[in-house]
Amino acid sequence: MKRLAATVLTAVALAVFGGMGVRSQEEMKQVSSDPFPRPQRPPAVFLHDAHNAKAGIEACNECHHVYEDGKRREEESSEDRRCADCHGLADEGGRPGLRKAYHRNCRGCHLERRQGPIVCGECHRRS
Ligand code: HEC
Ligand code: HEC
Ligand code: HEC
Ligand code: HEC
Repeated sequence: MKRLAATVLTAVALAVFGGMGVRSQEEMKQVSSDPFPRPQRPPAVFLHDAHNAKAGIEACNECHHVYEDGKRREEESSEDRRCADCHGLADEGGRPGLRKAYHRNCRGCHLERRQGPIVCGECHRRS
């Protein structure tokens, strides 16, 4: 009986997590800081799928956005690109530099929703 329950649970977990996106082999656990030439902080904790499920974020383009003429395209997303493909290290007109882009996206939402970490060391955790 116990074994059956465990099997069912595993199947459910696989269906839920496996079906959540194209990315299923290995879950992302942190945001890579490799586009930064000399990272000063440990990479930010970010369990991609689990984070988004827990936070109830359904639209991929909440983060993976596409803009045209300064307007966000509601129907499009850019999860096939890295943030750094479009965001250079420095600001460029209305386009924030990479570090600011991450902070505005991540910390901005946490502040707005009064949920999720806003203190440096809560995201940039030494593991
Ligand atoms: C909500 C999460 C979050 C919080 C809070 C946060 N950061 Fe970040 N920060 C990130 C992410 C994501 C990146 C992108 C690269 C990475 O993972 O390190 C980043 C990048 C950086 C970078 C550029 C990469 C590097 O390591 O040099 C610096 C510097 C930085 N943060 C400093 C800070 C400082 C200082 C604070 C507090 C005032 C802070 N961050 C708070 C998420 C956060
Ligand atoms: C809360 C923000 C957020 C949401 C929502 C989000 N992602 Fe991501 N995703 C990221 C960040 C940050 C990265 C790392 C980008 C980078 O390194 O440039 C990433 C990376 C990825 C990657 C690259 C995987 C890898 O291991 O390099 C894929 C694929 C992806 N996301 C797909 C999706 C899909 C599909 C959705 C919607 C179901 C989604 N994402 C929703 C923030 C998000
Ligand atoms: C295909 C190119 C592209 C990709 C990929 C991209 N961005 Fe952007 N992003 C832009 C452009 C263009 C703007 C400027 C929009 C404007 O002119 O107001 C922007 C604006 C922003 C802004 C400021 C406006 C806002 O939405 O709050 C943030 C924050 C941001 N991006 C974060 C990110 C993060 C984090 C990622 C990766 C998960 C990412 N971007 C991936 C093109 C991109
Ligand atoms: C659109 C809103 C939104 C965006 C964008 C967002 N978060 Fe969150 N995040 C949340 C919410 C809501 C929670 C609290 C979820 C809960 O605990 O119920 C949270 C919780 C967290 C936590 C603590 C829970 C955990 O998984 O350990 C971390 C760490 C975190 N976010 C990192 C990030 C990073 C890094 C980014 C940017 C790459 C980011 N978040 C972008 C909404 C967001």
